[in-house]
Amino acid sequence: MRRVFSGFSSSSRAEYRLNVFLAFFLFPHVKEIVASAPGKVILFGEHFVVEGQPAVAAAISLRARVSAKPLESPVIRVTSKNLGLSEAFELGKLEPRSPLYPVAYAASLALREVEAGGGVELLIDSDIAPGAGMGSSAAVAVAAVAAASAAWGHVLPREQVSKLAFEAEKIVHGKPSGIDNTIAAYGGAIAYRKGEGFLKLKVDFSPVALVLADTGKPRRTGELVQKVLNLKAAFPQVLDPLYYAAGRLVVEAAKMMERGDFEAVGTLMNVNHGLLHAIGVSTLEIEQLVYRARQAGALGAKLTGAGGGGFIVALCWREALQSVVQALSELSPRVLTVGIDTEGVKVERIREKS
Ligand code: PMV
Repeated sequence: MRRVFSGFSSSSRAEYRLNVFLAFFLFPHVKEIVASAPGKVILFGEHFVVEGQPAVAAAISLRARVSAKPLESPVIRVTSKNLGLSEAFELGKLEPRSPLYPVAYAASLALREVEAGGGVELLIDSDIAPGAGMGSSAAVAVAAVAAASAAWGHVLPREQVSKLAFEAEKIVHGKPSGIDNTIAAYGGAIAYRKGEGFLKLKVDFSPVALVLADTGKPRRTGELVQKVLNLKAAFPQVLDPLYYAAGRLVVEAAKMMERGDFEAVGTLMNVNHGLLHAIGVSTLEIEQLVYRARQAGALGAKLTGAGGGGFIVALCWREALQSVVQALSELSPRVLTVGIDTEGVKVERIREKS
């Protein structure tokens, strides 16, 4: 029999204790833990968020799953189905010698946090395209922290999971804002500000759809972030007002989202795209997709994430969805219609057959 237990339905202390109780007293004979976390789309404020402006992100209905089994030996074995890689890391002597290192590092922090008496075996299986702006690395890191700690009997609060996953994000991206791990841990739609935390937004997305279209060009977030920071350092007088405008735009956009004024949200997405173009992170392929989406009836369209390739996001009324998807499919190798994930990180336990 396969039994599933979901943790993290709230980050309150009482709920946390209840989760632990449920997990280890009601469900003995646990065979393995599976934790999962959603990817994200940044709707407003990417790049500007790195230097302290607010941003808005939403969790999407694509997940990274990490299954975990405790190991007696002090080893973290990480296998990625997606990358076709498997690597064993010795606890206490982790070396950054493989793309799986950040995951192993996040898991090692989780094991230390829960004072685990050994190592862990992790298997990654993700729906989220890597290097495309959908928060793949953060979703994997969040799920890995949750799975590794749960394998040793602890359902960590979301805040803690996000904090430990952020350490892995620093390895992957150099100077991340923290928005990706936060949205992967909490789900829903959030307004986020580095150093200040986040606010859950109350948005009814039911009249609209989000369409993501891939340029087919992978890119590195860390390099693009550095490129923008270099531009800002070279021309602070020019760039500072753009950062200020991006911050104001995000506040207005969050208001319009909560009000359900999606025409205004779309317009502000277009303005935000203009700012991202101005700071040098758009490309010809991105522009073609953005203009095609608008032409086909999208309320707004912009690049999402670091830019330089990756995905664009288009917002449209449900009635216009088909024509937007069709128009984008003519240019893009991959077009996805995504829902909003409201759960964030989730721990499931799979019981052994009895
Ligand atoms: O493309 P992604 O998913 O790696 O998102 C990057 C978002 C940035 O604002 C450019 C960087 C950050 O850490 O917030």
